[in-house]
Amino acid sequence: MAKSLVVANWKMNPASIKEAVLLARKVESGTLRQGNVEIVVAPPFPFLIQVGSILKRARLGAQDISGFAGGLYTGEVSGRQLRSLKVSHAIIGHSERKIHLGETDVMINRKVRLALKQGIKPVLCVGERERQGRDIPAVVGEQLRNALGGISPQSVKKVIVAYEPVWAISTMPGAKPDTPDSAFRAKVYIRRVLTQIYKRTIAERVPIIYGGSVNSKNIGGFMSEGKMEGALVGGASLNPREFIKIVAEVNRGRSRS
Ligand code: PGA
Repeated sequence: MAKSLVVANWKMNPASIKEAVLLARKVESGTLRQGNVEIVVAPPFPFLIQVGSILKRARLGAQDISGFAGGLYTGEVSGRQLRSLKVSHAIIGHSERKIHLGETDVMINRKVRLALKQGIKPVLCVGERERQGRDIPAVVGEQLRNALGGISPQSVKKVIVAYEPVWAISTMPGAKPDTPDSAFRAKVYIRRVLTQIYKRTIAERVPIIYGGSVNSKNIGGFMSEGKMEGALVGGASLNPREFIKIVAEVNRGRSRS
């Protein structure tokens, strides 16, 4: 059975390298014994090197990757550069980048391809902005199809899909977490779309994790009832105690379906 995955998305936090080092040390020491979980810590770019030097048990993630392989693109960070820092995962297509920075499905597809080319595992975020009723909106499937355009069956096995309904992300006004039951329906839907694109045996190899106001109290439900294969954690990943508890819960409740 594959390990569950917990990804810490620090976003544009903390404010200084000093705080980042403290946080990384606490996360590293507090999660040492949670052997069933793969942990990825994704700090802001300027903190990658130092945080990477602290993490032994946890892997190092980036919060983005350039859609260009290299060249004259001011402010961009390439997959090759990330790889040279031993970055193993990159969060791609986060809704905050779509909403505030104009990231499109075309850019996301380029980023997924370039990450895979460098051996970096994409943590591909998909999720609807609004949900009416029980059905998972078709936009989730469209985002997935667009992001995976041209990705071979061999490569897609390296992709992790993070279902992040935008309305559930803690920084959105009035945000509340999804329910385990509805997250499970989203998982089934995502798995079905993957199966339409790839063979079932391939589609089943792609882990599906949940993100959106995850905390130590609700993670258990997402893992058991929601049958999630892990979580993408924003706000709660900045509180080391809370994050360590989340990892411990996932360690107990890992599941796969
Ligand atoms: P949140 O963020 O856990 O603070 O809701 C999740 C994310 O944006 O990835």
